[in-house]
Amino acid sequence: MKIKSADFVISAVSSAQYPEDNLPELAFAGRSNVGKSSLINMLVNRKKLARTSSTPGKTQTINFYRINELIYFVDLQGYGYAKVSKKSRATWGKSIMRYLAERQMLLNVFLLVDMRHTPSELDKTMFDWIKGNGYRGVVLVTKTDKIPRSRKEAHLKDIRQTLGMEDDDVIVPISTKTKEGLEEVWNIIEDKMAEFGIFEE
Ligand code: GTP
Ligand code: MG
Repeated sequence: MKIKSADFVISAVSSAQYPEDNLPELAFAGRSNVGKSSLINMLVNRKKLARTSSTPGKTQTINFYRINELIYFVDLQGYGYAKVSKKSRATWGKSIMRYLAERQMLLNVFLLVDMRHTPSELDKTMFDWIKGNGYRGVVLVTKTDKIPRSRKEAHLKDIRQTLGMEDDDVIVPISTKTKEGLEEVWNIIEDKMAEFGIFEE
């Protein structure tokens, strides 16, 4: 899809602030620091649309980016960051679960996991939730540039097994450094949009 516009719309702390224009949404979920915000920037080819940071826990709100006045990319706040207080961890769970449960126009949730690590319990919980709610299982494996080529297959296999992925679930290795996977992710997004009858004018 050719990007004509990509606008930051709102950083929502409560569901009252979610956009109300009923455009379809695609959400990106995953642990803190996995690369959600970086991926959104890569997809729309804008370095600083979504704020990124090497300090985990950067995105603490639900951020909505409107693409081509057609669809929202939703940057969910990361989970599993140890230094976040207990209270804020509890708020995190509630806020994400409320978002996921409430959005009528949510087309799919993509789960991001870091290629270097075995998925955590929280990753598994998130993946089970995604599948359990009828969404397509799409796992984007980030930071592939940090793993030697010879080790990649083993890591992908471990991720598949740990998450209990099935044959029709998709796993896509991606890197914002090398742009690996960029086209494949766009293909998945466009297929999803087509499935819902959403096309560019
Ligand atoms: P939170 O907002 O804390 O939930 O994190 P996030 O998932 O949005 O991660 P973010 O995009 O801010 O990236 C975290 C760090 O990882 C940043 O320093 C990025 O530059 C780096 N990073 C993201 N993607 C990649 C990648 O594909 N390769 C490499 N080498 N670094 C990456
Ligand atoms: Mg972020």
